[in-house]
Amino acid sequence: MMQSNFNGSVTPEDLDGSDSLAGYRSRFHFPEPAGDEPIYFTGNSLGLMPKKAREYVDQEFEDWARLGVAAHMAARHPWLPYHEFLTEQMTRIIGAKPIETVVMNSLTVNLHLMMVSFYRPTSERYKVVIEKGAFPSDQYAVESQIKCHGREPRETLIELSPREGEFTLRTGDIVETIEREGKHVAMVLLGGVNYYTGQAFDMKTIADAVHRVGATVGFDLAHAVGNLELQMHDWDADFAVWCSYKYLNGGPGAVGGAFVHERHAESFDLCRLAGWWGHDKESRFQMGPEFKPIPGAEGWQVSNPPILQMAALRASLEIFDEVGMSALREKSERLTGYLESLVNGIGDDRLSILTPSDPAQRGCQLSIKIRDNDKSVHDRLVARGVSADWREPGVIRVAPAPLYNSFADVFRFAEIIKKCLQN
Ligand SMILES: Cc1ncc(COP(=O)(O)O)c(C=O)c1O
Repeated sequence: MMQSNFNGSVTPEDLDGSDSLAGYRSRFHFPEPAGDEPIYFTGNSLGLMPKKAREYVDQEFEDWARLGVAAHMAARHPWLPYHEFLTEQMTRIIGAKPIETVVMNSLTVNLHLMMVSFYRPTSERYKVVIEKGAFPSDQYAVESQIKCHGREPRETLIELSPREGEFTLRTGDIVETIEREGKHVAMVLLGGVNYYTGQAFDMKTIADAVHRVGATVGFDLAHAVGNLELQMHDWDADFAVWCSYKYLNGGPGAVGGAFVHERHAESFDLCRLAGWWGHDKESRFQMGPEFKPIPGAEGWQVSNPPILQMAALRASLEIFDEVGMSALREKSERLTGYLESLVNGIGDDRLSILTPSDPAQRGCQLSIKIRDNDKSVHDRLVARGVSADWREPGVIRVAPAPLYNSFADVFRFAEIIKKCLQN
């Protein structure tokens, strides 16, 4: 595990000089400066645009113009199997096999599709364990599924809260809750990284505990994908879902993805919402009335995919493949460790970091709590050109993305926030 040891004599220029990934910064478009010292630390919300994205999307426009419907077969990247061009690269990002991985839809839609299959309450086993303060879309999705099964969310949801005076969850407490509720738990759904605190969960330990009590487990990887080194197959989740507009830089509303563990690949009797794109590829165009699912995650597809969005994502996934998650993560731990040491070094008790200091329990984001929820600190940061977001209550989320942020960005951020605290 990389420790964040930065002594006072190390300069950001030294750190950038020895950063083997520094050159990737020039592969992205940075937004127009909003102040005199622009810094982009919101890759956890919308990743920057890879310069190649326009070329890849333009290629599809050209093929559409040139070929019309024939582009499904004759485009340079034929549209019919287009989602397959993304599968291999995505497997390396999430640590899964091709049969477990599909790029499709958006996150909440995929979450619903997965819950239809993996949340199957019975009269005894019906409870759902989630984080208290889960991302609202997850909360709404889970509650609506519970209601569709004719149940009352208040009696069905178990919401995990940190201990009194703490901000993040302890793995032991999560496991203890799962074991205590045991035979009543139908499904556990957690974020891979909590959007508010930046805490990364021990997905393997949690998945093992869930399986010991006979329930299913899924993860929302919105803030984990392209951020942590994931091993979804080995960690044994039943399913996972993600979006691609954050760290994966797929563009606004980018097409998301889903992981379904190999052991469910041929579980054709699982309840699922079917559509023609999940139907056996060989016989899809015979237009028969009987649905025959593709084995594996692809069998959960419903509609034919959005090619223009996928083209933009392809440009970004190529960069991830070139860099590899392990090199990315190594830089990320150093970059975030540097940020942490500088913020703590300011020594102002109006700032406190909620995110765990153990690198194994976080990704690149640090959530800085502002005393008395004083949003004016964030307003001043924005006025000086820093893109970092404010999340209620009282947190500035700062996410240096290792693909395009530098140690100099982190250093300047620390200098700017110091100035913002002065006036
Ligand atoms: C943790 C988490 N879950 C779910 C969502 C919703 O994603 P979508 O709009 O792609 O369904 C988001 C969006 O930012 C998120 O951060």
